[in-house]
Amino acid sequence: MHAVVVYESMYGNTHRIAEAIGAGLETAFDVRVVSVTQAMPEVIADADLVVVGGPTHVHGMSRASTRKAAVQAADKPVGGLKVEPDALGPGLRDWFGSLGDYPVRAAAFDTKMHGPAMVTGRAARGVTRLLRQHGFNVVAEPESFLVTKQDRLEPQEEDRARDWAAKLAAGITSS
Ligand SMILES: Cc1cc2nc3c(=O)[nH]c(=O)nc-3n(C[C@H](O)[C@H](O)[C@H](O)COP(=O)(O)O)c2cc1C
Repeated sequence: MHAVVVYESMYGNTHRIAEAIGAGLETAFDVRVVSVTQAMPEVIADADLVVVGGPTHVHGMSRASTRKAAVQAADKPVGGLKVEPDALGPGLRDWFGSLGDYPVRAAAFDTKMHGPAMVTGRAARGVTRLLRQHGFNVVAEPESFLVTKQDRLEPQEEDRARDWAAKLAAGITSS
């Protein structure tokens, strides 16, 4: 079975979580992890599972304006943040806009700051909604992985992502 993890990432945190999810899925799937800018429709055409995630920006999924703000914020010398090569986009919203319908199993994730989703927002909710709109069969609750106020992954989040994905894989193979 074949799984594809599609991620969007400005500072690399969601990218790292995507790689960890890929490692967790390898328990049951042959896995490909791709940036949203490389996820042409043919990349997911023969997938048995698609896992999609991005950073939470202004309470939801990124937009061109928030990606630009993220790149500008990284220009400040204090933070020491490095920007991913394709950070300015296109992002997940654009990707969904160019996508047809896929009756394929799927799940969503995001990265966000600590705190209740009512306060921080949560990109994975929007990703889940768009997955459903495109005919995907969403098989798991959306999951969030946490970053610090300095936009660094919290310790253990990559381990948690690997475990989450391994459980997702086990649930699919046993059903
Ligand atoms: C423009 C901008 C807006 C953000 N808005 C939120 C927000 O509303 N809620 C939140 O939890 N985190 C917010 N963040 C923090 C991001 O969620 C965090 O930078 C992201 O998860 C890091 O992932 P990445 O390294 O893959 O880009 C924001 C970050 C930026 C740059």
